Amino acid sequence: MTDFNEMLKKFSNDFNSRLPELFDFPQGSEQQAAKAMYYSLSNGGKRLRPFLVVNTAQMFDIPADVSFPVAASLEMLHTYSLIHDDLPAMDNDDFRRGKPTCHKQFDEATAILAGDGLLTYAFETLAKAEKIPADTKIRLLSLLAERAGAFHGMIAGQMLDLQTDKSPHLSSEQIIKHIEEMKTGCLIAYACQSGAILGAADERQYQAITTYARKIGIAFQISDDILDVVGDAALMGKTLGKDAIQGKLTFVSLYGLDKAGEIAAQLIAEAKESLAVFGSKAENLKDLADFIISRNH
Ligand code: IPE
Ligand code: IPE
Ligand code: MG
Ligand code: MG
Ligand code: MG
Repeated sequence: MTDFNEMLKKFSNDFNSRLPELFDFPQGSEQQAAKAMYYSLSNGGKRLRPFLVVNTAQMFDIPADVSFPVAASLEMLHTYSLIHDDLPAMDNDDFRRGKPTCHKQFDEATAILAGDGLLTYAFETLAKAEKIPADTKIRLLSLLAERAGAFHGMIAGQMLDLQTDKSPHLSSEQIIKHIEEMKTGCLIAYACQSGAILGAADERQYQAITTYARKIGIAFQISDDILDVVGDAALMGKTLGKDAIQGKLTFVSLYGLDKAGEIAAQLIAEAKESLAVFGSKAENLKDLADFIISRNH
């Protein structure tokens, strides 16, 4: 696991070093939105989703310079989701990635615009990727919009997260599964599926990677919910203990810490099994799956 931590650290250093090339700051006072975008995007973060994009693509021998714009655009979209998630009208958080949240560092209006800016720029970055064929880009753009969206995507999950009491026709078990699948699982699914699309995966391979992604996506949010209770705020870089204070429905509030941990561990075991079709090429993805439930940040 130490090796994996080092690999992820090296990956994130390489990834971070390429971000400035994507930012061409305007001159006037409008540059504040771009500065806020860059502040939140470059502000640490595990870069788990980019790691998944690049390493899934690599299983199909697609080099990192081809997959980089796909990884960067997903991280932009993820960062926008965090900026908005932290706003006073949502989770109302002051710290993110070890620094003041975007609206604390700047102001609320700027944070809303920085989120909008990252969402928009994610699609621009992907659309302009020079090394990806046009038909592949259209598939990726369409899937990214779907996974991020308000019907069955991240936004739908965030909406449900904020109003769990307004779905009386569903059980708490059903609601929490929907929330975790959509608010977190959808972007993690895209991370893996985009790598497979870049690699022109066949149907069997695509299904295998989708099963893996769906399972680690839920496990990832369960571990986030567990760490909200037992984690170290300095390592996590955000205020913890808030799910209980805000009365959030999570796997932990529903099943308790132990059972939530068992569910996550079972999902990780199943996720790794689903990669059998890729043989030894899937080692990095398997290690990442283990990292999800052993992490402290
Ligand atoms: C935080 O995601 C939000 C969730 C979906 C739980 P990460 O834990 O991946 O956050 P960063 O990108 O490393 O900051
Ligand atoms: C956020 O889930 C998921 C997103 C889509 C941003 P949380 O609200 O649990 O994430 P944290 O704990 O603030 O990172
Ligand atoms: Mg939230
Ligand atoms: Mg939050
Ligand atoms: Mg959380």
